[in-house]
Amino acid sequence: MIKYLGSKRRLVPVLTRLCETADARTALDLFTGTTRVAQAFKRTGARVTAVDSARYSDVFARAYISSDAREVDLAALTAVIDDLNARPGVPGYFTETFCERSRFFQPFNGARVDAIRDAIEREHAGSPQYPILLTSLLEAADRVDSTTGVQMAYVKEWAARSYLPLTLRVPELLAGDGISVHGDALDVAPTLPSCDLAYLDPPYNQHRYFTNYHVWETLVAWDAPEHYGVACKRVDARDDTTKSVFNRRRLMPDALSRVIAGVQARVVVVSYNDESWVTAEELRDMCAVHGHVQVLAFDSRRYVGAQIGIHNPRGERVGEVSHVRNQEYVVIAGARDEVRRLVDATQEVTVGA
Ligand SMILES: C[S@@+](CC[C@H](N)C(=O)[O-])C[C@H]1O[C@@H](n2cnc3c(N)ncnc32)[C@H](O)[C@@H]1O
Repeated sequence: MIKYLGSKRRLVPVLTRLCETADARTALDLFTGTTRVAQAFKRTGARVTAVDSARYSDVFARAYISSDAREVDLAALTAVIDDLNARPGVPGYFTETFCERSRFFQPFNGARVDAIRDAIEREHAGSPQYPILLTSLLEAADRVDSTTGVQMAYVKEWAARSYLPLTLRVPELLAGDGISVHGDALDVAPTLPSCDLAYLDPPYNQHRYFTNYHVWETLVAWDAPEHYGVACKRVDARDDTTKSVFNRRRLMPDALSRVIAGVQARVVVVSYNDESWVTAEELRDMCAVHGHVQVLAFDSRRYVGAQIGIHNPRGERVGEVSHVRNQEYVVIAGARDEVRRLVDATQEVTVGA
């Protein structure tokens, strides 16, 4: 999985427990990003719909969520990946733009990205393997980049991992079918059928995914766009069409409220952290359209409290959520008894470090 701002690796055990306890047969991951959470839901046996506006997220969702591992010929896929790994580098747009004008990758790896990406387009476009091969290439490139995890800048000295040779691996696909939707959550959410559990993990502030991961957008689009600035960002990063309403301070609260109200689900779960433009209390009010609301709070290492301003797992009062910094929250909304049952079920779950 790629390095990703706001990725919910630590919360996966809690979210998985919620999905299992809700006995969710159908689940929605509305801002799926790496698809990490959607994958965890799929592993529980749920039929998952994964939605995101990023092109690379759509590629991940088509590989990990809508591809069924039981229908993929693993030997054939492995042979194709071995063949791609054997291709010699041929410098092109990627090398010139992201290895010479900017320094996101070493040129010897950039040339291999150019050669492999061209081959995927030429030989596999339109096939069921296409998103799986793109996923393999994106993840391989991420393992040898020279950034701090975002693509607004590259590090001055080459990162140690950038010296490693780019190597594609066979993605660990999951059994079962699912649905991937590439689009704006605000448009997509109201069109989706009702599901058992919907998870929403929207951006919370000004940090745009389109610019932070512009290299991945270009690697998927493979359209050799004009670029600007030291980071060689795509010129269309300046277009309004590539800007998310969730990154606009004045518009975000209303958009968040609308997208929460727009999902149809028995249980609605929303992630949130205290760097957001909305407060936990505002988020709780937004979720009240779906019934009873409780909030789980986690600090950087451990579970610190259930239900805003109320208790820790030992039943001790831990103070108001709004007074504690650097926390992540999981807001759960639905029928009162079910929400209580879900909160109880998370009490012994340890979040990751
Ligand atoms: C906090 S990240 C999600 C991280 C994800 N849960 C994970 O663990 O990888 C937010 C995601 O929202 C997506 N996004 C931003 N604006 C969007 C919109 N209007 N509609 C759909 N997705 C959007 C971004 O591309 C990004 O992947």
